[in-house]
Amino acid sequence: MGGWLRARGATVRRDAAANLWARFEPAGSEGRSPATIVGSHLDSVPEGGRFDGALGVLCTIEAVESLLDAGDRFHRPVEVVGWADEEGARFGIGLFGSCAAFGRLPDRVLERRDRDGVSIAEALRALGERGEPVGARREPKELAAYIEPHIEQGPRLADRGIPLGVVSDIVGIFHGRVTVSGRADHAGATVMTARADALAGASEMVLAVESLAKARGDAVGTVGEIAVRPGAKNVVPGECVFSLDLRAARGLDDLVRDVRAAIRRVGDARGLTSSIDVLANVPATPMDARMKDLLRRAAASVGVDAPELTSGAGHDAQNAALSGVPSGMLFIRSTGGSHTPRELATVDDAALAADALVFALRELAC
Ligand code: GLV
Ligand code: MN
Ligand code: MN
Repeated sequence: MGGWLRARGATVRRDAAANLWARFEPAGSEGRSPATIVGSHLDSVPEGGRFDGALGVLCTIEAVESLLDAGDRFHRPVEVVGWADEEGARFGIGLFGSCAAFGRLPDRVLERRDRDGVSIAEALRALGERGEPVGARREPKELAAYIEPHIEQGPRLADRGIPLGVVSDIVGIFHGRVTVSGRADHAGATVMTARADALAGASEMVLAVESLAKARGDAVGTVGEIAVRPGAKNVVPGECVFSLDLRAARGLDDLVRDVRAAIRRVGDARGLTSSIDVLANVPATPMDARMKDLLRRAAASVGVDAPELTSGAGHDAQNAALSGVPSGMLFIRSTGGSHTPRELATVDDAALAADALVFALRELAC
C-alpha cells in the first residue's frame, strides 16, 4: 500500500499503533484542512480469507489511482488508511488500530499478551515503534469524513443479485474473556461427586451463551477460543479460559447481563469461581446520514441501486463514527461466508466499488 501510494505522490507513514497512512496534501493546504479518510484494515484472522479488510484497501488504492489517472487533483487532503489489528486475533483487542487513533483503547491495553507471552508494547517495539499506541491519536476535528469499503461477509447482496450495498448501522459488540477456576485433581482417584471441574462448568456456560443469544432472535453469541489448564487427559481441569463474542443491533446490554448471570449461576451450582475481563464493549453505531446518501449516489453512478444493510461484523468505522467523524461504509457483494478461506468477491464487483469510490472522493475532496 505504502509503495503504491508514495509513487502517486502521497506522504506515507506508520503511526504508533502500526496503522499505515498515505496522505495526499493539496498545495497550499499544509495540514490545515480536515482530511477525508478512506480505507480498511490489513490484518486477518487465523485461517481467514483474502478479502475481509484487504479488498477495501485495494479498492481505495484503485480509486485514488483512477482519479489521478483521469487528471483529477485533490483540493482537500485525503488519507488512505490501512488499519492495524482490526480483528484482535493476536491480543484479543478488536479494532485495535482505530481504537488508538480515536482515543478508544480499553484500559490496561499494554498489559495484554499474545499466546507466546509477548505484550502489545513489545510487539510494537519489535516493529521499531515506541510501544505507546496512544501516540496514534488523531484529533477528530482534523478529519472531515471516513469511508470504508468492505466485503459484505454475508449472503444478502448475493441472494438479491446486487453488487453493492450501503451500511445503515453496525451492531453493538461485547468482547470478553471468562476465567473459570475449579480444582485440578487426579482423573482416576477423584470421584465424580468430589470434583470442581472447570471445563465441565465452562461447557455449560458455553451452551448458555448459545441458548440466550438464540432466544433473542436478532442477537448472536459465540465462544471461539478456549484453553484448559493444566491440560492433560488424566487431570481434572483446574482452570478454563474462554472468549465471549456477543452482538446485537438492539438490547446488547440485556444480553450481556443475562450471560453474566448464567455464568455466575453455573459457577455457583458447581463450586467454581469465575471472572470476566471486558476487552471491548462497542455500542451499536449508526452511519452518518450524509455519508449514506453520498454512497447511495456513488453506487447509482455505476448503475447500482444499493440497498441499506445492517452490518453484523464490527468495523473500524464504528470508532470513527463514535468519535464524531461523519462515517459511511460501502459493502461489496461476497460469497462463501467470511473469516474462512472460502470468502470471495469478484474482480468485477471490486471494480464497481472502486468506481463508486471515485465518485465519492470527487465530491468530498476534489
Ligand atoms: C470483525 O471481523 C469482527 O466483526 O469480528
Ligand atoms: Mn473480519
Ligand atoms: Mn473486516
